[in-house]
Amino acid sequence: MTVTSTRISLAKPVFDEEMKQAALDALENDRYTKGENVFKFEEEFARYIGVKYSVSTNSGTAALHIAFTALGLKPGDEVVTTPLSFIATANSVIHAGGVPKFADIRFEDYNIDPALVKEAISERTRGLLPVHLFGYPADIEAMREVCDSRGISLVEDACQAHGAIFKGRKVGGLGDVGCFSFYPSKNLWVPGDGGMATTDDEDIARAMAKLADCGRVSHYEHDMVGYTYRLSSVNAAVGRIQLRRLDELNVRRRDLADEYRDMLGEIAEIQLPPRGNSEIQPVYHQFVLLAKHRDELKEWLEKYGVQCGVHYPIPIHLQPVYRKLYGYREGEFPLSEEFSKKCLSIPIHPFLEDADVTYICEQIEFFYEKMSG
Ligand SMILES: Cc1ncc(COP(=O)(O)O)c(C=O)c1O
Repeated sequence: MTVTSTRISLAKPVFDEEMKQAALDALENDRYTKGENVFKFEEEFARYIGVKYSVSTNSGTAALHIAFTALGLKPGDEVVTTPLSFIATANSVIHAGGVPKFADIRFEDYNIDPALVKEAISERTRGLLPVHLFGYPADIEAMREVCDSRGISLVEDACQAHGAIFKGRKVGGLGDVGCFSFYPSKNLWVPGDGGMATTDDEDIARAMAKLADCGRVSHYEHDMVGYTYRLSSVNAAVGRIQLRRLDELNVRRRDLADEYRDMLGEIAEIQLPPRGNSEIQPVYHQFVLLAKHRDELKEWLEKYGVQCGVHYPIPIHLQPVYRKLYGYREGEFPLSEEFSKKCLSIPIHPFLEDADVTYICEQIEFFYEKMSG
């Protein structure tokens, strides 16, 4: 059978006339760095998340890095996080001089398992770094309890969860610091890279702002070793418009997720991602199935023009660099490893039409019918 080029893409960033105009206007009229758009975006983002301060950066990784540095991570300090994430999550701990330690996920929400977090904690642990993976909030209440009882910091990796809600509050506003990415596949994106760190603590906010801007006290006076992690004003201008549209675009993602559930619910060979409920509202950065015959299903869908993704094919502890640095081997975090073998991300983005969802679901059904003979 021959196929067709990609008909339905996995992600499609929203970039409308208003965003184009805002970018052009910033390019022509704002300062390129530290412009009015940057400060306004920080203010508006903080208000949206429900925190007092936001510090913009030029990536989510940079936001995580300055968060841990501002929180005072010292060489050898440990931070417990999940092995099932984009590698930048754990890398950020190393950037700040610390050592990432892993606790496995639970299949219930694909996020770090609070019971296993307790086992991973040692006397060197100085922080927890849960990830709200694929836009589904991790159990922040359980994490907060552990942090409070141990006197350690809680940093939320909300890089995939712009607008997700945990018990009535936006994620990213529930830890000591929340970190966001605006990479161009995210629910809120900017044309290039970008990020934001959010906090209610004024001292941490000041330290992060300084770290992101070369450790500056004034233009040529520096009292700490900082970085050039500033967000460009053009990106901030686009981010501001994206922020205004975010809730509406997240509603569309939730509707699409419901459509998938209605149409795929009966297929025994796949497990659907966790549902939201009255307390937890995910934002479906990705819609990830756990699928029997994952690789063949992916091939089938792509043959029929549906672009798919695998998030993530290698859990962080099994990445070559982590094996080399810390000697990790297969079997240490079995649920993350099993997940990596079965996970398949199917398209979910605001441009997806209802007819596209029907087509994708039909293709999945055909595939399993064919497999069962
Ligand atoms: C969970 C998670 N953490 C951290 C990052 C890093 O963000 P960035 O790519 O903006 O540095 C990403 C981005 O893909 C991510 O998905």
